[in-house]
Amino acid sequence: MDDTLDTRKKLPEHLRVLALKYPRDGWVQHSNFDELTRFWLDRHLMFRDVMGRMQVQTQKYLDGNAPRYAPELARYTGFFLNQLKGHHSIEDHHYFPVFNKLDGRLERAFEILDRDHHALDAHIHGLAEKTNAVLEQIHAGRDAKVAAGALLTVQNGFEGFLNRHLFDEEEIIVPLVLEYAPDMNGS
Ligand SMILES: [Fe+2]
Ligand SMILES: [Fe+2]
Repeated sequence: MDDTLDTRKKLPEHLRVLALKYPRDGWVQHSNFDELTRFWLDRHLMFRDVMGRMQVQTQKYLDGNAPRYAPELARYTGFFLNQLKGHHSIEDHHYFPVFNKLDGRLERAFEILDRDHHALDAHIHGLAEKTNAVLEQIHAGRDAKVAAGALLTVQNGFEGFLNRHLFDEEEIIVPLVLEYAPDMNGS
C-alpha cells in the first residue's frame, strides 16, 4: 500500500475506521465537537484560501494582469510558509502526542502524518526557492514569465500535497475528538 504524501489517493481503509463511524457532514453537530477543533479546521481553510490566492496571482501575472504581483506574492507566500511551519510545529509537539495515544488502531496514521510533515518541509523549501527566483527577476526589472510559469507548476503541485495532507489529517483527528473528547488543556 503506497501511503506516501506524493502518491497517496486516500488513507488506507483500516485507518479510516473512525472516519467511517463519523462522516464529515456530521462533525459540527456532534456534542464533542469543540471550539479548539473548529479553530483548527479554520486554520486548514485559511491555508487552502491563501494557497489559492498565490496561484491566482501567478496566473494573473502570466496573463499580464497583475501590476502588484511582486509585493502580493512576497506577502502571501511569506505569511503562508511561516504560518504553515508554526502549524506543523504545534501539531508535532502538542496535538499528535496526545492524539496518537487515544486509539491503538490508528498508530500507523500518526506515522503517516509525521512523514507528511517532513515531505511538506521539502515542498516548502521548493516553493520558497521558486518564489524567490520570481521576485529576484522582478526586482531586477526583468520579465519573470518563465520563472513564474515554473512557480505556478510548483504552486499547483503544492496545492495537491497540501489538500491531501489536510484532508487525511482531518479524517484522523476530528473522529478521534468526537470519539474520545480528549482534554487538550489538561494533557
Ligand atoms: Fe499537519
Ligand atoms: Fe494541520
